Amino acid sequence: MSTTTVLEENRNRTGDNWFRHGLFAPVTEEVTAFDLPITGHIPRELNGRYLRNGPNFMRRIDDNKNHWFFGSGMVHGVRLRDGRAEWYRNRWVRSKAVAEALGEKWREGPIHGQDFPANTHILAHAGRILATVEGGFLPYEISDDLDTIGPYDFAGTLPAGFTAHSKTDLARGEVHAIAYSLGQDHVQHIVIDKTGKVSRITDVAVPDQPMMHDFALTEKYVVLYDLPVTFSLDAAKAGKYPYVWNPAHEARVGLLSREDSSRGTRWFPVEPCFVFHTLNAYDDGDRVCVDVCRYAGGYDVSLLTGPGAITLDRWTIDPVRAKVTLRSLSDRFFQEFPRIDDRIASRQHRYGYTTAFKQLVVPATEKGHTSGNVLFKHDIKSGLVEEHRFEHGVAGEGLFVPVSLSAGEDEGYVMAFAHDLDGGNTDLVILAAQDFAAEPLARIHLPARVPLGLHGSWIADR
Ligand SMILES: [Fe+2]
Repeated sequence: MSTTTVLEENRNRTGDNWFRHGLFAPVTEEVTAFDLPITGHIPRELNGRYLRNGPNFMRRIDDNKNHWFFGSGMVHGVRLRDGRAEWYRNRWVRSKAVAEALGEKWREGPIHGQDFPANTHILAHAGRILATVEGGFLPYEISDDLDTIGPYDFAGTLPAGFTAHSKTDLARGEVHAIAYSLGQDHVQHIVIDKTGKVSRITDVAVPDQPMMHDFALTEKYVVLYDLPVTFSLDAAKAGKYPYVWNPAHEARVGLLSREDSSRGTRWFPVEPCFVFHTLNAYDDGDRVCVDVCRYAGGYDVSLLTGPGAITLDRWTIDPVRAKVTLRSLSDRFFQEFPRIDDRIASRQHRYGYTTAFKQLVVPATEKGHTSGNVLFKHDIKSGLVEEHRFEHGVAGEGLFVPVSLSAGEDEGYVMAFAHDLDGGNTDLVILAAQDFAAEPLARIHLPARVPLGLHGSWIADR
């Protein structure tokens, strides 16, 4: 299979700064706009905020940053109410450096080690909205209107850093996270209780300082990915992205009991690969099913590319027989940003939603599939895959939002930013999850371009 990545082309054109150009290019203004124009109709039950985080390089303080992941976080938000798009706002997350660069007073708060304007995800829990990031940094709390409230350490209960990708177990009201930090010989499993305070921390020893961007949660287990992308002092000294493919590091997945962490983590070898993101995981009797977007073979985080395809796969971990089997869940290549109905996290799911970025990868595959500007909806039970294609846009992460808290799985909407290929303004698109390929129910026309970014959350009105 041959592939050509637009990222590599960008890199050839622009040196090591591919992430400052094209659809990645940062915006320079913070915008507030009300009563946004709409094509179609916004479902009236969608009352809340769609918030999406991502790096947005700021002049002066980000000039020397060598990777997209290091850009200052900017949150883009659209507020929906009673069928209207009330407002759009975009705001930098005000770390001390960002606040000072904007000529503002920093909203002081705890700093554990180093301050960073969290740029990766949005977590809403216990009445607070947090912009989150990994690598040992703290989240930043933001207001309903995206103003920065300050760095947040869960009311003083978090001793070190947090992570970008947490999992909320709605049945128990708990948030789980796996946090890693530079220089540590372990990662931490962190549990946040329903009041928003850390209730448990378990250290898990791992060699070589692997990058653990995500993990998985079932009703019985925390599932850790100890994969061969590890910290490199040589790369850091050379001014390169400090996590590199390390073929000497054994690829393995670990099971840590949620109920009794004193039993330690049980590890199982897997084929060398890298995983950024989990779709979901669940217990199937004694076995554990873990669905992930998997990069087979080596992976270069500095270019966000590798020699193999990105595939939606299932690891079935059998602790009794001490083995892991791998099977493909989809014949579509180059899928990322997997999401489920978040109410189901840690329990068996049927549906999943993924994104193919034409801007990231233009594949020419053996089977002739051409992922591109496409959102996928997977029926894991039947194997059916539906596609929603964007004619002149690049779809960001597709976020499922249920019709109501009591609605069944897949009864709801999928929201995504549609980025214009020519650099025009961005739309927030709302699809009917159960009529996925159809025209969007609504396209909300934003007054500005939103750069390609990372993850988002829907925060329903309380
Ligand atoms: Fe991520």
